[in-house]
Amino acid sequence: MQNRITELFNIQYPIIQAGMIWCSGWELAAAVSNAGGLGIIGSGSMYPEILRENIKKCKAATDKPFAVNVPMLYPDIEKHFRIIIEEGVKIVFTSAGNPAIFTSILKAQGLTVVHVISNEKFARKAEASGVDAVVAEGFEAGGHNGREETTTLCLIPQIVKAVNIPVIAAGGIGTGRTMLSVMALGAEGVQIGSRFVLSNESSGHANFKQAILQASDGSTELSLKQLTPVRLLKNKFYETVKQAELNCASKEELATLLGHGRAKKGMFEGDLEEGELEIGQISGYIKEIKPAAEIVKEIVEEYNQALSELSKQSL
Ligand SMILES: Cc1cc2nc3c(=O)[nH]c(=O)nc-3n(C[C@H](O)[C@H](O)[C@H](O)COP(=O)(O)O)c2cc1C
Repeated sequence: MQNRITELFNIQYPIIQAGMIWCSGWELAAAVSNAGGLGIIGSGSMYPEILRENIKKCKAATDKPFAVNVPMLYPDIEKHFRIIIEEGVKIVFTSAGNPAIFTSILKAQGLTVVHVISNEKFARKAEASGVDAVVAEGFEAGGHNGREETTTLCLIPQIVKAVNIPVIAAGGIGTGRTMLSVMALGAEGVQIGSRFVLSNESSGHANFKQAILQASDGSTELSLKQLTPVRLLKNKFYETVKQAELNCASKEELATLLGHGRAKKGMFEGDLEEGELEIGQISGYIKEIKPAAEIVKEIVEEYNQALSELSKQSL
């Protein structure tokens, strides 16, 4: 499994645990890094000093590389970048914003920078801004989603063809077999979110985790497309938004309906009715909560088994 991504991050397996608001603090990041993948602290739900505390605790819990995700649509990102540099974090995953603004500043400080994209135009822009790799995230993914609705299966080959830097695939990957399939499409690593929400170390609320365990195919849908498209587990809040959208609610009305703190209410405080529950389509397949290290081990074993089965098949 050694390739440009394992070399870039100095990790054993090209398995990256996604930065996720309310779900990926230092415990999850450290557990994944200790298991040979790359753990990411999701700073999007953290005040600056909480981020600093998470970084310090992660450094104490692992001597392996780990990263911080900075979604650039939240306030405080300059403070976050300053803390990341001060605390000596070596890898940053930026998302939801323009990589041209901060990449050169971060690179000048010696950081490795990866940016998340969901279409070809932004992949090219990210490469031109000097990032070291891109995460190409398909429509299946949990959390905020591309407007184009391009699925992982279609997106990865397009991005691999469009850029020369390594491509990390995201969206709908939760097993070794799905990992093998995107590597066959030319990806050199995988970023996995939803599967790691269902780990012991994820800071998602127990109610949220139980609701995900009940999910089947069709339990999630893209919502709030007029504002910022986000894939949600269907619940009362999702139905309220859907009804408002059917009634042709304006962008402003939807923003008022969303209000503040919905994601925290759902994913961190466990309010399954009024909260926003961000999760990907792969949730329909995941039926167990496990330690993050076991998830990494299982993915690696299944990947190797699937690879050997495929190589024995003759056409
Ligand atoms: C609960 C949750 C929260 C997320 N929060 C963020 C975030 O803060 N920043 C970000 O770039 N992506 C976020 N994402 C997207 C993930 O980083 C990742 O790209 C995605 O989960 C991959 O698809 P998958 O869920 O099918 O594995 C989130 C996803 C989930 C499920």
